[in-house]
Amino acid sequence: MKKVLYTISRNDCVAEKTYRLELTCTQGSGPEPMRPGQFVGIGIEGKYLRRPIAVADWQDVGQGSGDGTLMLVYKQIGDGTRILTGMKPGERLELLTGLGNGFDCTACKESALLLSGGVGAAPLLGLCKELVSRGKKVTAVLGFNKAEEIVLVEDYRSLGVESFIATLDGSVGQKGFVTDVVREYGLSADYFYTCGPMPMMRAVCEQLPTDGEASLETRMACGAGFCYGCSIETKNGPRRVCKDGPVFKKDVIFW
Ligand code: FES
Repeated sequence: MKKVLYTISRNDCVAEKTYRLELTCTQGSGPEPMRPGQFVGIGIEGKYLRRPIAVADWQDVGQGSGDGTLMLVYKQIGDGTRILTGMKPGERLELLTGLGNGFDCTACKESALLLSGGVGAAPLLGLCKELVSRGKKVTAVLGFNKAEEIVLVEDYRSLGVESFIATLDGSVGQKGFVTDVVREYGLSADYFYTCGPMPMMRAVCEQLPTDGEASLETRMACGAGFCYGCSIETKNGPRRVCKDGPVFKKDVIFW
C-alpha cells in the first residue's frame, strides 16, 4: 500500500454514467507492483473517504523506476464519483495503490472463463491480459443491462480472446444473463473468474461446475484494512473485503 500522485491524462464518458480514467505517474517513486484484481483508493477533494476503484490495466513504463500508467473504469454513483467526472486532463489525484489481494492467476491450469457484470469487466481485463501472457486459453462473457452500458469489449477483443456479450434487454449479443451465454454456447474451462453484482456472481458460482473465484463489491470506509467496516462472514470466519479480498474462492463465500 503506497500513496502516489498521478496526473489525469484522460477522463471520458464512454458509456451511460461510465467513465474511463487514464492516469500517469512520473514522480519516480511509483506505485506498488500491481496484480490483476487489485484496486486503488482515490482521494477526492472535500471528501473524507477515498473512492475504491478497481484497476483495469496498468503499465510500468519506467522499467522499475516506478513511472507508469493506470487505467480505471468507474461508474458515477454518488457525490464523490460525480466530482471525479468533472476532473480534466492535467489535474492531479492522490491514490492509495496496491490495495486488495487480487486474483490468483496460478489457479487456472490451461483455460479460464471470465464472467463480468457491468463495470466488473474492468478488473477482469487486467486479469485477461495476464492470463493471455501466460499462454492460457481465455473466453470472456461480458454482461450488461443494455447497449448503452457496454464498455471495454474492444479491449478484450484486442487481446485476441473469444468474447461474448449478453444484455438483459437483448439490444446487443445474447439476450439474458452471462450464465445463459455459457449454457447456450456450451462454454467450459478448467477455472472461472467473476466480477459484478452479487446476484450475478451467485448464479455463476452456483451454476458453473468448476472451481473459481469472485471479486466482491461491498461498501468500504477506510478501504485499507483498518476499520473492519467491510467485514463479511465466510466459511473461514470473518474477513475484510478490502484487505483479505476483494477476491474470494467460490466455496468460501456464503451466498
Ligand atoms: Fe475499512 Fe475494509 S473498509 S477495513
